[in-house]
Amino acid sequence: HENDFRLFVKNAKQVVLVCNGGERFLTKDGMQKLPVVENGSLIIGNDGLLKAVGPVDAIDARYKGASFDTVIDASGMVVIPGLIDVHTHPVWAGDRVHEFAMKLAGATYMEVHQAGGGIHFTVEHTRRASEEQLLVDLTRRLTRMLRTGTTLVECKSGYGLDLETEMKMLAVIERARLASPICISSTYCGAHAVPRGKTPAEAVEDIVHIQLPRLQEKMTKGELQVDNIDVFCEKGVFDLHSTRTILQAGKDMGLQLNFHGDELHPMNSAQLGAQLGALAISHLEEVTDEGIAAMAKSKTAAVLLPTTAYILRLPQPRARDMLDAGVIVALGSDFNPNAYCCSMPMVMHLACVNMRLSMDQALAAATINAAYALGRSHSHGSLEAGKEANLLIVDCPRWEHLIYQFGGHQELIKYVIIKGEVV
Ligand code: NIG
Ligand code: FE
Repeated sequence: HENDFRLFVKNAKQVVLVCNGGERFLTKDGMQKLPVVENGSLIIGNDGLLKAVGPVDAIDARYKGASFDTVIDASGMVVIPGLIDVHTHPVWAGDRVHEFAMKLAGATYMEVHQAGGGIHFTVEHTRRASEEQLLVDLTRRLTRMLRTGTTLVECKSGYGLDLETEMKMLAVIERARLASPICISSTYCGAHAVPRGKTPAEAVEDIVHIQLPRLQEKMTKGELQVDNIDVFCEKGVFDLHSTRTILQAGKDMGLQLNFHGDELHPMNSAQLGAQLGALAISHLEEVTDEGIAAMAKSKTAAVLLPTTAYILRLPQPRARDMLDAGVIVALGSDFNPNAYCCSMPMVMHLACVNMRLSMDQALAAATINAAYALGRSHSHGSLEAGKEANLLIVDCPRWEHLIYQFGGHQELIKYVIIKGEVV
């Protein structure tokens, strides 16, 4: 019925639209001051899309006599778009709390990795784990993400490094995608490390000629829906040439390019990504000025991961220089056994304090720009009529409290709404 709607969120103290007028991403100027409706309401249709957002009085007048399945009185609360996490490694077995102790005692990330720990430790445990167990753990982690406001999350494989385990991980992500209310963008990350016992050349060969063709077959049959391809482009992992070969093979299959680059050493990853038309590059702690300029020109998003620099005590990514140059900056949690954080409010807080983003910039980076980095900014990332109704109702006097307060965000977030359903 045309006068019948799924949800009415009324009387919110603030509604942060993030975008106004259909922008698909924001660069520095647009991130300066996000549009906010003071005293606003929202109408969500039975299709799960936002029908209208605006001042309380205008919505009341326009929807007089309409009926709603659910009405939420948001008096005293604020509404913001659902948060989007562009970079996670959430499928794994075996934690690495012992390595946290080693790193606190002075070991570097690469020292642990080269001694057979790090990713290799997780690979051993993940290869042995059953699909069922991995799914149980992933589901629990996704639920935790939901509770801190993540409504769309990118999930990578990459702790298998062989055909069987990479496909097992992608199958786990696929099952979660179909069963969980959270939206998932799935990433094949078979080039997360060079598996032990293989040379980089052998690993590239295996990925390009064995794993990717199998992935293609499964995608064609509809067994898997995978959106992105990722490579860890790093000294001692995959060099620029290998990275190019793998990304190009993924691109030829229609996958979006979204990869790890310039994290521990300047690798010219940014220039490569720009050249290949990558949608996003993550990390970039060691990106050069030329790399920044190339990304600004190609509209390749920079996915900054404040937890990594924080926990490994790395130099901070140059977020302000990127913004000044016109780069599209997005944020991710990098949730993985090294950086055990799945909370985007915490990530925004760290981005503000350590990378010197403003709160408006951090929210744009965790919503509309994050959606752009996943190729979803036509449907996600802002509160605009026609987009998916993914939003948070937060019990605080101004929206900035979600970033200003660090910790305890689960208690502030009263409702997480995905496609118009309270989850
Ligand atoms: O993004 N840098 C490579 N990958 C992950 C870490 C994965 C791990 O240590 O297990 C990252 O930080
Ligand atoms: Fe990562």
